[in-house]
Amino acid sequence: MILVIGATAYFGRQTVEALRREGHQVRALTRTPEKAGLPEGVEVVQGDLAKPATFAAALDGVTAVFLVLPYGLDATAFLEAAAKAGVGRIVFLSSGAVVDGADRQPDVIAAYHAGVERAIAATGVPATILRIMFPAINSLAFGMQLQGGEVIRGAYADAAFSMIHEKDVADVAVRVLVDGGHQGRVYELTGAASLTQTEQVRVLGEALGRPLRFEEIPDGPLREQMGAFMDPDFVNALFDLMAATVGKPAPGTSVVADLTGHAPRTYAEWAAEHAGDFA
Ligand SMILES: NC(=O)c1ccc[n+]([C@@H]2O[C@H](COP(=O)([O-])OP(=O)(O)OC[C@H]3O[C@@H](n4cnc5c(N)ncnc54)[C@H](OP(=O)(O)O)[C@@H]3O)[C@@H](O)[C@H]2O)c1
Repeated sequence: MILVIGATAYFGRQTVEALRREGHQVRALTRTPEKAGLPEGVEVVQGDLAKPATFAAALDGVTAVFLVLPYGLDATAFLEAAAKAGVGRIVFLSSGAVVDGADRQPDVIAAYHAGVERAIAATGVPATILRIMFPAINSLAFGMQLQGGEVIRGAYADAAFSMIHEKDVADVAVRVLVDGGHQGRVYELTGAASLTQTEQVRVLGEALGRPLRFEEIPDGPLREQMGAFMDPDFVNALFDLMAATVGKPAPGTSVVADLTGHAPRTYAEWAAEHAGDFA
């Protein structure tokens, strides 16, 4: 039995579906089962990582856990419960911002994910870390601006990302959860190619049949605007990570191809599949 945390959001949902397609037994944890909308055959369990009383039912008979956490959620108590329950394998979706061996992580995003990685290591349960940097789903944030016209205004037109499709994250997660041989490994997952934000918006426009373009605006006011309704340290960390990629092609790894046997899906494929999200 494989337990998926974060099963109702992008990465967890795709992983649940991919596990079911291969016929594995899957349990999905959610705070609101009635809203889960998961496929037939998935066991949906009511649970909350902030409520230890829900852990025993969620962990009963579980052999492996796929952990996708919303930023900032403390998973320590859950991880300790998983170890006590005899879970044999933990796979964590972490961030490429984590710097191995650093005394102090460079920002709050890296620090949060490094903390979870340490908490997993402290359980002693065999584990594998999957790190991603810029998932393609981040482009969904363009949706609001696209209601108002063909121009996406944002910081850093030349920031370059190798955006990864959530289905490729899921395909890797399935292999690591199900097959042996990945214990103790840290995998950096990337997409098919490095694209600047200008190029991403052009590709998205081609998929939507619209002449979209990216227009660069200064980052200062954007940091302030977003910092007014989100944690300013998180916002600054995100902008700094983006700024660091300006003018440098994003590095690519062969992890998706090596573990799944197929090339990473392209950003154009992602855009075509998600065209309805921008309607
Ligand atoms: N976006 C990026 O740029 C980026 C980059 C690197 C890594 N990542 C990783 O990907 C993660 C985001 O994944 P995502 O977008 O799929 O998910 P998300 O939107 O960040 O989180 C929502 C999911 O978390 C679950 N959840 C929230 N609070 C919970 C709680 N108290 N107990 C149990 N489950 C809870 C929700 O389940 P219910 O609502 O159904 O309970 C839902 O499935 C990040 O946090 C990060 O670790 C993201």
